[in-house]
Amino acid sequence: MNFDVKTYLKLRKTWVNEALTGIFSARKAPEPLFEAMRYSLMAGGKRIRPILMMAAYEIFRENGRDILPFACAMEMVHTYSLIHDDLPAMDDDDLRRGMPTCHKVYGDAMAILAGDGLLTEAFHLISDDARAGGWPADARLAALRELAAGAGVDGMVGGQAMDILSEHKEVGIETVRFIHARKTAALIRAAVRMGALLGNAPDNDLTALTRYGEAIGTAFQIVDDVLDVEGDTELLGKAAGADDKLEKATYPHVAGLAESKREAARLIKQAKEVLGPFGEKAEPLKGIAELILERNT
Ligand code: IPE
Ligand code: IPE
Ligand code: MG
Ligand code: MG
Ligand code: MG
Repeated sequence: MNFDVKTYLKLRKTWVNEALTGIFSARKAPEPLFEAMRYSLMAGGKRIRPILMMAAYEIFRENGRDILPFACAMEMVHTYSLIHDDLPAMDDDDLRRGMPTCHKVYGDAMAILAGDGLLTEAFHLISDDARAGGWPADARLAALRELAAGAGVDGMVGGQAMDILSEHKEVGIETVRFIHARKTAALIRAAVRMGALLGNAPDNDLTALTRYGEAIGTAFQIVDDVLDVEGDTELLGKAAGADDKLEKATYPHVAGLAESKREAARLIKQAKEVLGPFGEKAEPLKGIAELILERNT
């Protein structure tokens, strides 16, 4: 079989973008709030988390579109994390997804509220009977638990806090691992687990996919740190060199660029090994793992 991951991603990105557009198209007042939410959500973005969720689901079930409400909720939580990450009180960035950051266009207050709105709407979307596309309550509860765990204080929020607390400090590799596991890997792991859980994966498959999610999630942030050093602002759609300015606790800072690249490659190799038993059904997850290592955006 000649599997083309780029085509796979492109189609699912279209599904996600259409579904996200639908969620907010009829919502209006207060206008600047919904505009700010739509602006950041639809500004572009790779949609890697929702696509990972669908790819994990498709190991066990036919059609990834079945879980679009969950995939959209994940992207809404991720986008909220980016809006807040860019605020002056945090990374103070002016460019995101190739456009001025949310607070640059709508002001700090609307950007904070747009983030709050996206986060809360994500949980409403999954928990509301009318919006979650007929999924049974126990499946929705399991998905909600994963999303909350990935996004919360032991996940993304905790990692973001440690990231901020570690600025301008000489921290060790253990602290960087703590930050990466939470601020980035937790939500990526949650995306994969949500897909597997909604697909009714057997326990041992869920365990294997959890390891895959952790490995690619960690590699994703190491590569993000490397791209901040070596990447191109135009391609990235966000300013390169931002981490050094804030003396962030990054992988390249504590381990050097060469070792960072080796570690990312090791993690991706590990992730692909975990997929072995799934055979051809895991081609998309394998292809995404490879892309994470090679990406320049
Ligand atoms: C950026 O995430 C934030 C990190 C966790 C590194 P992405 O690289 O997935 O950003 P988008 O969604 O494609 O804009
Ligand atoms: C952010 O890490 C992770 C989030 C949870 C948003 P970064 O601060 O390195 O992400 P970028 O580089 O701004 O996208
Ligand atoms: Mg940050
Ligand atoms: Mg940032
Ligand atoms: Mg970064």
